[in-house]
Amino acid sequence: MTVLLKLEQVNAFYGSAHILHDLDLTVNAGERVALVGRNGVGKTTVVNTIFGLATLRSGQIHLGSHALKKPRPYVAAQHGVVVVPQGRRIVANLSVEENLLLGAAVGRKGPWSVPEIYKLFPILQERAHTPGTALSGGQQQMLAVGRALMANPSLILLDEPTEGLAPVIVDQLADIFNKVASQGTALLLIEQNMSLVVRVAERYCAMAKGAVVAQGEVHNTRESLVDLENHVMV
Ligand SMILES: Nc1ncnc2c1ncn2[C@@H]1O[C@H](COP(=O)(O)OP(=O)(O)O)[C@@H](O)[C@H]1O
Ligand SMILES: [Mg+2]
Repeated sequence: MTVLLKLEQVNAFYGSAHILHDLDLTVNAGERVALVGRNGVGKTTVVNTIFGLATLRSGQIHLGSHALKKPRPYVAAQHGVVVVPQGRRIVANLSVEENLLLGAAVGRKGPWSVPEIYKLFPILQERAHTPGTALSGGQQQMLAVGRALMANPSLILLDEPTEGLAPVIVDQLADIFNKVASQGTALLLIEQNMSLVVRVAERYCAMAKGAVVAQGEVHNTRESLVDLENHVMV
């Protein structure tokens, strides 16, 4: 198995606040992994540590065969790891198309281009020249996913991509995530909505107090849903 992302015994801080405690997490090529846990357990801090927005004090992060010395967003993107950030972070004074082009700045080769993103999300083509933040919440999330794909990643970290969205939009996004994954891109889905997790993920890692405390398989079944809901509450 090819490892795309490996965190080993990671300890991460914001200033003097110790958030991640000896955290281990691995995502292999093509995998769909869910990272679950209550609010405040440190899920976003995992993302922030990979991108250098929280301080890595000890432990190792590997992106593929690359041992990350100084985590930075562009370094992760160069190694094929991108994020759809919590809250989407669409750039307000850029159009939809300009927001998409930002994602391509890293210059990785691959199947994704503006026309391909428009095939995946036709609404973005209709609104190509509208300011990104004029879109609805669901459309902004599609734009954030499109922008991430423009980097031609091998792994996308999705940080609570369905937060605050209507069920019909969540269903559309579930289909998109499955489509993207079936084309070979690995996903790390950070999610509170376990019915989405069972539809998309094949494995879960559950966090509590800044560490991964449980792992298991995910199936699109009622039993799996109940199992996951129990593990999030630890
Ligand atoms: N920039 C920050 N500075 C200090 N503490 C933070 C910062 N961001 C988050 N935290 C704290 O770190 C902990 C983990 O937060 P976070 O990773 O956002 O959790 P989650 O994404 O699982 O909800 C929380 O206690 C939160 O209050
Ligand atoms: Mg979070």
